[in-house]
Amino acid sequence: MCGIVGYAGKREAAPILLDGLKRLEYRGYDSAGIAVQDGSTHDAKVLRKVGRVAQLEDALQRSMPQGITGISHTRWATHGVPSVGNAHPHADCTAAFHVVHNGIIENYATLREELKGRGHRFSSETDTEVMAHLVEECFRGTLEDAVAEALRRLRGTWAFAVISSRDPGKVVAARNSSPLLLAIGDNEHFVASDASAVLSATKKVVYLEDGEMAVLTYDGFRISDVDDIELRKRLVEIPWTLEEAEKGGHSHFMHKEIWEGPEVVHNALRGRIRTKEGMVKLGGLEEVQERLYRAERLVLTGMGTAFHAALLGEYFLEELAGIPAETEYAAEFRYKKTPVARNSVLLAVSQSGETADTLAALRKAREQGMLALGIVNVVGSTIARETDAGIYNHAGPEIGVASTKAFLSQVVVLLLTSLFLGKQRGMDMGLAKEILEELEKIPEKMRKILRQEDQIKELANHYAAFHDFLFIGRKFSAPVALEGALKLKEISYLHAEGYNAAEMKHGPIAMIDENFPTVAVVPDDMIRDKTLSNMEEIRARQGPILAIATEGDRKVAEVATDTFFVPKTHEMLTPLLTTVPLQLLSYHLGVSKGYDVDKPRNLAKSVTVE
Ligand code: G6P
Repeated sequence: MCGIVGYAGKREAAPILLDGLKRLEYRGYDSAGIAVQDGSTHDAKVLRKVGRVAQLEDALQRSMPQGITGISHTRWATHGVPSVGNAHPHADCTAAFHVVHNGIIENYATLREELKGRGHRFSSETDTEVMAHLVEECFRGTLEDAVAEALRRLRGTWAFAVISSRDPGKVVAARNSSPLLLAIGDNEHFVASDASAVLSATKKVVYLEDGEMAVLTYDGFRISDVDDIELRKRLVEIPWTLEEAEKGGHSHFMHKEIWEGPEVVHNALRGRIRTKEGMVKLGGLEEVQERLYRAERLVLTGMGTAFHAALLGEYFLEELAGIPAETEYAAEFRYKKTPVARNSVLLAVSQSGETADTLAALRKAREQGMLALGIVNVVGSTIARETDAGIYNHAGPEIGVASTKAFLSQVVVLLLTSLFLGKQRGMDMGLAKEILEELEKIPEKMRKILRQEDQIKELANHYAAFHDFLFIGRKFSAPVALEGALKLKEISYLHAEGYNAAEMKHGPIAMIDENFPTVAVVPDDMIRDKTLSNMEEIRARQGPILAIATEGDRKVAEVATDTFFVPKTHEMLTPLLTTVPLQLLSYHLGVSKGYDVDKPRNLAKSVTVE
């Protein structure tokens, strides 16, 4: 976790670093700090604050450090509580070296003891601080050599940016398992955890790989491995505009991103479907077509919201492509002794492409000889780079910590993947055509739901009086129920349980009374009558019910206390519609309670630690 921005250029560094940090705040936000090298003395002026980047900004407004080289950090604590002392940048004993870090130094305790034994004094509880002291010890004249030597003694994961008054005007960066890129501007260079931090200055970036280092000055950069072998790397043009990474008039990123649903579906489909023929073209999968054709088993994996999308993918793949599929938490898959059937495929779903568990699952699958595919949103992210093949979501940057638009896009891409594989296996092309025709209508149907936001807001006001919620659904609506409950927990800090409706009478029903409402996802599909019976059982116990049903379903409306209607669509596509009111419900509940819905407490968008 944690966000890093470093700058070496000709402009004042502090405002640029601050601007970058604001865009990286989704990566962690319990404290933030900055170190800028003074233009004449080269000493670093350091400012660190507990809390959001806004706190740091306030302090900077009062005294903005001057200088054209600097590093900065927004933290999500792993070692040591959020405090000024534990906030980055961290310095060595002489305050000549400053370090920001994302990741975990696994052997820090041993290193710390050794360093203390050699007379170093520590001022924080962090694992990071050992790096500052190690660089100090290793320094013989150039910062990059000192960093390279220090890195050889570390075990763990890192993205580092380091500056030093003893070798001024440069930022040295290094990566191992935590994301880091170099951005190339006009007479200025940046390092950052992701591209949104640098978009206002440049779209040209180079992604660093594990084991790589970079040295940047205002007029150049050099990338090498830790043995100082220079590497030639590909320059990538970022396809996102800065505006895409900003709020665009909405009060929160989460709101903007929910409203982007129709466009996101459209973007996921663009250039990939030929509806009249029922055809799906996924360029990313073409080169592994042969292996996919031979696939006998598919394991879908992910964490959080991506896991819920993967659960839907399991249904789609079995139903449309007839391939045995199962979904596993990436965190479990990585440690399980799964016998690998012949021709097994792993499909990793991840918005950020950086989730540590999902990445580890992917690496394990590849080690076991599985074909590894990815459905990833962030272009050039680690998972995207390490898969054998994959499909991008093209959902644009998702800034709100709770995933919304990315989920919708993942569902669409999983549908397309299932149709692609289905075609290989001779699926009914009439059905493929029908699904594609319906998919093309989804954006307009979503807009219809969004236009009824006021109704959802009213429902949110009404249900804000309750403290506990049950979410139920079956088949395609079961993952929607899980996702609805997760969203409510994340955004409104309310107790919510997501259950398959069929499981309800095996336990959860015991909780039901007039103070325990149920959100029933009950669109018009082959299982609707069964869920309706479960609703009857809840009503018989005085449980309030908020139903998400298909337009015109009077029977559901009669049983439910409140009903929100979504337009009719193919049953496999209902999650794309029923999810939207649930996202809005959580959003409005969270806002009505005065919570920061874009940055819910205790969470981070990209979980790059176990
Ligand atoms: C975090 C986020 C979730 C997200 C999950 C997986 O927990 O808060 O919103 O669903 O990570 O992230 P990924 O980037 O792999 O989809």
